[in-house]
Order: sequence, then C-alpha cells, then structure tokens
Amino acid sequence: MEIKQAEFLTSSAKPAQCPKPDKPEYAFIGRSNVGKSSLINMLCNRNSLAKTSSTPGKTQLINHFVINDDWYLVDLPGYGYAKVSKTQRKEFKLIIDGYLRHRSNLMCLFILIDIRHKPQKVDLEFMFQMGNWGIPFVIVFTKSDKLKPEEIEKNTTDYKNALLEDWDELPQYFVSSAVKKEGQEEILSFIDEVNKS
Ligand code: GTP
Ligand code: MG
Repeated sequence: MEIKQAEFLTSSAKPAQCPKPDKPEYAFIGRSNVGKSSLINMLCNRNSLAKTSSTPGKTQLINHFVINDDWYLVDLPGYGYAKVSKTQRKEFKLIIDGYLRHRSNLMCLFILIDIRHKPQKVDLEFMFQMGNWGIPFVIVFTKSDKLKPEEIEKNTTDYKNALLEDWDELPQYFVSSAVKKEGQEEILSFIDEVNKS
C-alpha cells in the first residue's frame, strides 16, 4: 500500500472525544520515547506529521490521522513513563485503557519495543492485559539502526523466549528503523491485508 494522503484530524483528551468510529483504525503504543511518533512519520513519508521529541512524554493526547481517506492511524501517549507525577500517570492509564477497551473500530494495536532493551516487565504485562481484553496486537521492534544484525537476532530471540513463558503462540512482529526506513513496506502491507479481510 502506498500512503498518498495523510492528514492530522484531531487530538482527544478523552476516548469519548475521539472521531466517529467510521473507518478501520490502527493505533501505536509503547513506552515513552520508544519511537511511536517517528514510526508514524516514517510510515507516512512525512517528517513532522506526528510530533517527536528526544524528551519522553511528548505525546499526551489521542491523536487521530486519516490515511488515504480510508483508515485512521492513532498516535497514543507512552506508558510507564516514570518522570511524570503518579497522578498524571494514572490519568494517562485511564485514558489509554478507556480508549483500548471501547474503540469498536480498532483493528490492531502496534506495541512498540525498543530493540536495544531486554524484555521489560511493564511491556510484558501490557501485552498480557491486551490478551485478556481480546485486543489484537502485533509487536514492532524499533530503532534497529542502533544494533548490528547479530544483536537484533539475539534480542528478538530473547524477547520471543520471554513471551513463550506466558503465551502458546507468538504474536506477529516487525523490525523497524525510522532512520533507515526499515519496516515500512511490511507494516503497510500488513495493514492493507487486515483492511481487505
Ligand atoms: P513519546 O511521545 O514521548 O511517548 O515518544 P515517542 O514514542 O513518540 O518517541 P519519538 O518518536 O518522539 O522518538 C523519541 C526519540 O527517539 C527521538 O529522539 C527520535 O529521534 C528517536 N528515534 C525514534 N525512532 C528512531 C529510530 O528508528 N532510530 C533512531 N536512531 N532513533 C529514533
Ligand atoms: Mg510520541
């Protein structure tokens, strides 16, 4: 699939403010600074469609983009960011959980993991929660340009092994780099397939 049109639609502070669920929707989530906004820009071939920052906690709202007039792409705030207040973190969690549980047109959630990191409890627990809620998800390992191929292989294998402690089947996964534009074709083809199904 080629992205011919990508437009920012709206930012919502609450799930109830989100646009009418009239198109299939794909949302991107993960820890703060994992590269959600950068991945969205890379997928859309745009430099600053979604706002990025080297300071974690940049995205604080549910941001909807319309792609090819056909589907919604959503940039979500990061989870598990320690430097915001406890109250704010709780509030973010309520917003994100509310969105995830009730968004009827959500076709798939992309859970982003920094490929440099060992499997982290907060991510594994989050995936487990998605499984319990019956939310379809795939994993995207980000920032692959930061590692050598053999390190990528090792870290993805470690991750798969950590997942297999709780899951019988592994979720589909992608490896991406916003810098090298890696993973664009694979992720867009996946979305295309789900849209057609
Ligand atoms: P929050 O909105 O704060 O939760 O962050 P985010 O997950 O949207 O991350 P964002 O896209 O803003 O990127 C965070 C930092 O990582 C920025 O400094 C990016 O330039 C950098 N970054 C993102 N993707 C990549 C990548 O693929 N490779 C490299 N080398 N850096 C990346
Ligand atoms: Mg962001």
